[in-house]
Amino acid sequence: MKFGYFDDEKREYVITRPDVPLPWINYLGSKDFFGLISNTAGGYCFYRDARLRRLLRYRYNNVPYDTGGRYLYIRNNDTGQFWSPTWQPTKNALEDYRCRHGMGYTTIQSSYKGLEAAVIYFIPQGESLEVWDVRLKNNAENCVNYSLFSCVEFALWDAQDDATNFQRNFNIGEVEVEDGVIYHKTEYRERRDHFAYFACSAPLMGFDTQRAAFLGPYSGWDSPAVVKQGVSQDSIAHGWAPVGSHHVQFSLQPGEEVRLAFLLGYHENPQDEKFTAPGSQVIQKKYVKKTIKKYLKFDEIDAAFASLQETWSTLLDKFHVNTPDEETNRMVNIWNAYQCMVTFNMSRSASYFESGVGRGMGFRDSAQDLLGFVHIIPERARERIIDLAATQMESGGAYHQYQPLTKRGNNAVGSNFNDDPAWLVLAVSAYIKETGDLSILDEQVPYDNTPGSEQPLYEHLQRCVQYTLDRLGPHGLPLIGRADWNDCLNLNCFSDAPGQPFQTTTNKEGKTAESVMIAGLFVLEADELAGIAEASGLADDAAHYKQAAQSMRETVMAHGWDGDWFLRAYDDSGDPVGSHECKEGQIYIEPQGICVMAGLGLEDGRAEKAMDSVEERLATKHGVMLHQPAYTQYYLNLGEISSYPPGYKENASVFCHTNPWVMAAEAVLGRGDKAFDYYKRINPAAREAISEVHRAEPYVYAQTIAGRDAATFGEAKNSWLTGTAAWNFVAITQYILGVQPSFSGLKIAPVVPESWEGFSVQRMYRGVRYDIRVKRVGKGNAVQLKVDGEEIEGSVIPLAPKAVRKVTVEVKLGK
Ligand code: GLC
Ligand code: GLC
Repeated sequence: MKFGYFDDEKREYVITRPDVPLPWINYLGSKDFFGLISNTAGGYCFYRDARLRRLLRYRYNNVPYDTGGRYLYIRNNDTGQFWSPTWQPTKNALEDYRCRHGMGYTTIQSSYKGLEAAVIYFIPQGESLEVWDVRLKNNAENCVNYSLFSCVEFALWDAQDDATNFQRNFNIGEVEVEDGVIYHKTEYRERRDHFAYFACSAPLMGFDTQRAAFLGPYSGWDSPAVVKQGVSQDSIAHGWAPVGSHHVQFSLQPGEEVRLAFLLGYHENPQDEKFTAPGSQVIQKKYVKKTIKKYLKFDEIDAAFASLQETWSTLLDKFHVNTPDEETNRMVNIWNAYQCMVTFNMSRSASYFESGVGRGMGFRDSAQDLLGFVHIIPERARERIIDLAATQMESGGAYHQYQPLTKRGNNAVGSNFNDDPAWLVLAVSAYIKETGDLSILDEQVPYDNTPGSEQPLYEHLQRCVQYTLDRLGPHGLPLIGRADWNDCLNLNCFSDAPGQPFQTTTNKEGKTAESVMIAGLFVLEADELAGIAEASGLADDAAHYKQAAQSMRETVMAHGWDGDWFLRAYDDSGDPVGSHECKEGQIYIEPQGICVMAGLGLEDGRAEKAMDSVEERLATKHGVMLHQPAYTQYYLNLGEISSYPPGYKENASVFCHTNPWVMAAEAVLGRGDKAFDYYKRINPAAREAISEVHRAEPYVYAQTIAGRDAATFGEAKNSWLTGTAAWNFVAITQYILGVQPSFSGLKIAPVVPESWEGFSVQRMYRGVRYDIRVKRVGKGNAVQLKVDGEEIEGSVIPLAPKAVRKVTVEVKLGK
């Protein structure tokens, strides 16, 4: 069952009924100011940090779902009836409801009782404000008198404190209202230099800023007293819960239309110009008023919206495919790329499932997010790499997270996730392959943000590799530390006290438990660093890292092979994890995917065997599960992984992030049909028709799909903010379609289904537009390339001379 449809032409997903299984959301903003918006206008916005600079209050895990948002109420003043044109919070039975989630904007339209409404929500590029562009049209046969009420509820900035510290917070709320603009200035009197504002383009009949006055005693958002009565109270908040509500009145003749705009923004004043005059407590508004004035003009709004759309067109045009599969085209050309941008911006901070208060930017998460983003805006990827590397410790290890506002590593989750550093090498290598910019290696970057500790980025990478080599266990495999990529495989935790955090508790010294997954990752990492060294003319280093990779390969083949698949780990007692000897958790997905990607077992058939075992034991119609059998009880020696009920999260769900590793591994084996089959199983667009099962948005990947052991097999959770986005982009574009940036140029190595007669890719690469047309001429994956009409040897397109801006590549695939 579907709840909408894709409009690929407009790059939109159109939701045709408001009561989708979960709020289906979109993101606004692209650099400093962001908003989350659901299909019924729920959500919130924030400046840079979803926890520390939250503008709107949002009630996670509330009933009804999705409480708190950008609320509008329309009131027919002739009849007294009122409703919300975006459905929430009044939930009237709207006609012609449509929510169009697009690239950086959301439009919600509906009709009710003869009034047609459409609201476009977006953030103008480079600005810290949301525009709500509202159009109302009277389709009735008589003239009608209307009121329009807006209402947002302000968060008192720190979203965590806002939801807990009531003894203080009920006392501190402060606002100003000037020229019809509502200013939220809680804590501005002391150390903050920022405030929020909420403005309206039309003259006001009234306003409210005190929630209790707007709602009335014991009323909910669905029936505010002010809207019921049609009269604002002009309330001023002193403490309690500041809100912003405007009241506008107008009458519409039959067929007449009115357009209004609301602006919800964030502004910072210079410290010495916070107030109108020394001693005054009144906000200095001269700077912000310019911005407000500008964006209350409809031609400015139109121009800003057009420029947002143009920017997205340019960004998405950088990579365009045309394959025989519609859902592949849709994801690669639109939604997967878009999701990569969002994960790059948000890391794991704010979504419907991430409260924005819990996590900073993850080190490994951000490094992996880069893999799917680097071709979109390489300069921002470069900045991110430097930020990440600057949090690295001198040991080569990493804080697991850092705060976006300060860019410093945070100790909340600590460090010693022993896979973390490896991802930085992969990110830098992806950046260099994309851009050819070797100069990034010479950037002077500090350790742990400590002035004076600066070293070239290249040395940071060397320390990443060394970090692993300094931490090998009894079999010569990497020690796992707190956990590796699988945050929940806690082999040194041994936690038996309820409430103890698995992420930070370590009761064992950690000198025994080893990870085969990190070993495979190490081979990938060391090979990449060898490539970087070679590209930089450092032949000795290159040889050294190749040797390190080779010796790890041998160790894995000697101690990390279980007979039919790669082992997952050794636990603290030296017993295998992910082995046929185990009672549960006999086979894990991660080492199969990663080790085969790293080329392990290709010569002797073990790679193929591992992937066949994956198919036999882990693959389901809803994707490939993390391990099997699921853990049916808690294992002290394994930790959080066994804390989840079977089939959920790390306990044997389809943890989507890992599936692209399997696709890539199948591609490495040359098995295009299998690789693509796995791709389709978790492709959200391909699951649209089972939206009642999948339940999350059909346009973006989710972190998990409940596994076969779960009661809700096939149900997706934690949509949007997941490494799945980047890795699927890599799997489909680089491994399956086979367009791979390399140090020396674009490599073409498709491993697509046998039945495909061909496909084409247009891709920007190092400033050149490549027009690649692949035609199948026979079976298999052999390629023969013609570049601008000339046949070339091998599969790497030589870099184009400076003046050339466009290159045509014809590829004959198969023999
Ligand atoms: C979450 C984390 C990620 C981790 C994964 C597996 O997605 O953000 O860092 O690798 O879970 O546990
Ligand atoms: C939990 C989740 C895991 C996530 C981690 C991050 O352990 O199961 O997916 O990576 O929290 O803190």
